[in-house]
Amino acid sequence: MTEPAAQILDGKALAARLCQRLQSAVATLKGEYGQQPGLAVVLVGDDPASEVYVRNKGLQTTAVGMLSFAHRLPADTSEAALLKLVRELNQDDRVHGILVQLPLPPQIGQPAVIAAIDPAKDVDGFHEVNAGRLMTGATVRALVPCTAQGCVMLIKEHRGGNLAGLEAVVLGRSNIVGKPVAHLLLEENCTVTVAHSRTRDVAEVCRRADILVAAVGRPYLVQGSWIMPGATVIDVGINRVIDDAGKARLVGDVDFASACRVAGAITPVPGGVGPMTIACLLRNTVVAACRQRNIEMAAL
Ligand SMILES: NC(=O)c1ccc[n+]([C@@H]2O[C@H](COP(=O)([O-])OP(=O)(O)OC[C@H]3O[C@@H](n4cnc5c(N)ncnc54)[C@H](OP(=O)(O)O)[C@@H]3O)[C@@H](O)[C@H]2O)c1
Repeated sequence: MTEPAAQILDGKALAARLCQRLQSAVATLKGEYGQQPGLAVVLVGDDPASEVYVRNKGLQTTAVGMLSFAHRLPADTSEAALLKLVRELNQDDRVHGILVQLPLPPQIGQPAVIAAIDPAKDVDGFHEVNAGRLMTGATVRALVPCTAQGCVMLIKEHRGGNLAGLEAVVLGRSNIVGKPVAHLLLEENCTVTVAHSRTRDVAEVCRRADILVAAVGRPYLVQGSWIMPGATVIDVGINRVIDDAGKARLVGDVDFASACRVAGAITPVPGGVGPMTIACLLRNTVVAACRQRNIEMAAL
């Protein structure tokens, strides 16, 4: 008997298409308006995973033709010193987007740093002004958190533009992923349930989802038996596990093998949401540059 196999939603390919559109938008901004969008990324400390993220962001920023500014600060940097750098970047006309890589060392208060970023340059979308715009439905004026944007683009790529009336369940309620995904899906007229560590019978809640987004950080939490046949499953989780052969590898929050037999479509880890996150960061930087210079651009 042939087993039903879910369609694999290729985040790498979708991200590559978005980056192509960004590249031509950047060329237009340079050629017709004399503007080259610039993204500043600040890394405090020497966490190897964060270092890899920052390097990749820099490479992809220049690949689409934008300016990339990397600021690497020692792990013992004070909050005052970081805030001073953020204020300088707020004033720098070459910089249209600012991203401070999280997490920060314990002596630095994350909320104070996020609050110090000019909301117009807040390409992570974590500032209260941008979070507030998203929550109040003023999404067109917000800079929307990148991973959440990427999730919804993947869903619409598969389901088409109209998600109205679909049941969406978002597992996880972080400010970075869960809540913004839930707000975006609400904007798309889905019926949204947000589940978290205190939710009773999470499996039963998940089973009613036409769209299931897992953003938890627990390897293999979501089993095939939690999924409604034909559902679209977006796996945001990135978890490092040691496999049976003793090798480290990355897995999501969804048990891919069992989920594949039930879902209609599913994102792989890696190669699903991850590439979309970086592409949406670049998109936010282009959007921010256009808004700061009052330039009207076709939707990206
Ligand atoms: N692909 C990407 O680009 C990307 C970007 C960002 C994050 N991620 C990954 O996505 C995952 C989530 O990230 P995050 O920053 O949102 O994490 P987080 O801040 O730790 O939030 C995790 C959420 O999951 C909930 N949760 C924990 N255990 C649960 C359970 N057993 N059942 C249901 N909900 C449970 C928590 O509930 P409570 O609120 O009740 O504690 C919390 O709301 C991580 O693996 C992270 O590495 C990937």
